[in-house]
Amino acid sequence: MESGSRKKSRRLCCIVAAVVLLLIIAIVLAVILSPKDFKSTFMQRCKNFNGNNCAAIWDAFQKAYVNRDQCDVPPEAYDSLIEAAPLETSCNRMMFWSKTKDVAQDLAAKKNCSTLERTLLGSILDGLTWCGKRGSNETLTEGCPKWDDCVKNPVRSFWNRVSAAFGDAACGDVTVMLNASIPTPFDPKSIFATVEVKRFKSSKVKKVTVVLVTDMNSVTNCKNKSLQDLQNMLDKGIIYSCLEVQKSRIQECISDQNKSCGSCW
Ligand SMILES: *[C@@H]1O[C@H](CO)[C@@H](O)[C@H](O)[C@H]1NC(C)=O
Ligand SMILES: *[C@@H]1O[C@H](CO)[C@@H](O)[C@H](O)[C@H]1NC(C)=O
Ligand SMILES: *[C@@H]1O[C@H](CO)[C@@H](O)[C@H](O)[C@H]1NC(C)=O
Ligand SMILES: *[C@@H]1O[C@H](CO)[C@@H](O)[C@H](O)[C@H]1NC(C)=O
Ligand SMILES: *[C@@H]1O[C@H](CO)[C@@H](O)[C@H](O)[C@H]1NC(C)=O
Repeated sequence: MESGSRKKSRRLCCIVAAVVLLLIIAIVLAVILSPKDFKSTFMQRCKNFNGNNCAAIWDAFQKAYVNRDQCDVPPEAYDSLIEAAPLETSCNRMMFWSKTKDVAQDLAAKKNCSTLERTLLGSILDGLTWCGKRGSNETLTEGCPKWDDCVKNPVRSFWNRVSAAFGDAACGDVTVMLNASIPTPFDPKSIFATVEVKRFKSSKVKKVTVVLVTDMNSVTNCKNKSLQDLQNMLDKGIIYSCLEVQKSRIQECISDQNKSCGSCW
């Protein structure tokens, strides 16, 4: 009788120990296998860029979306982030792009041109997804709204706000890389059309050069009506020009060490 109950309690003890052990294993695995923590990616990229002030920048960033509905984060929510980390750009090296990201980023990296993705904030958040939720101060990376799910989602509002700041900073000779393989290279729904181009001021921007990237699949050229629309949207006093440039020529220029940003065409 007594030995039976002792056996029972020993068995219980083993079960508890096994459950605890399994729990520990599960937690360790979850930590090892979980996607890299959003905040550490943010901080790492921030430090790689310049190292200063990253804690304050993180603070300003997450205040924009934590404890808010995922579809109720307006672009203005990031105003204090832009104040904490103003965009540094340089005149005559600024490059905008729409539907040409890969070749534009490639060129910018090799020729030291200034694209939004090469500013501090752009480089930290390029390719990332994030959101918060009501009643929590956490940053989530899963279950967040997609770009088109709602207009005021945290990621879309961020890119709209930071693009506005980038457009405001435009100065000197500006390059815009567009894609001749889509029917409407100046897409009226793009961030470039809805946000950036509207911020170009003739007091600062001297000239806008469209580089229309062509290849075997090109369906349009500089005469396309959408590009006339772009020209008409520019302040009077800003010079406009459009060049059709083969993708292969851009790639040659990328590997030509003698060429600098803007001297490819
Ligand atoms: C790139 O351009 C910036 C100015 O925008 C300049 O400060 C920097 O030294 C340049 N870097 C290289 C590698 O040329
Ligand atoms: C232009 O758009 C097409 C179709 O989306 C794409 O396949 C191509 O890579 C783009 N061209 C450039 C230079 O990005
Ligand atoms: C989140 O909330 C918890 C509990 O309210 C608090 O201890 C923690 O400091 C907060 N974290 C941030 C980043 O605000
Ligand atoms: C050029 O622009 C217009 C309007 O902006 C567009 O609807 C049209 O399909 C374009 N492309 C071609 C290949 O004509
Ligand atoms: C770059 O410039 C140097 C000297 O100015 C010249 O010798 C060289 O051939 C040039 N390289 C290319 C790829 O044009």
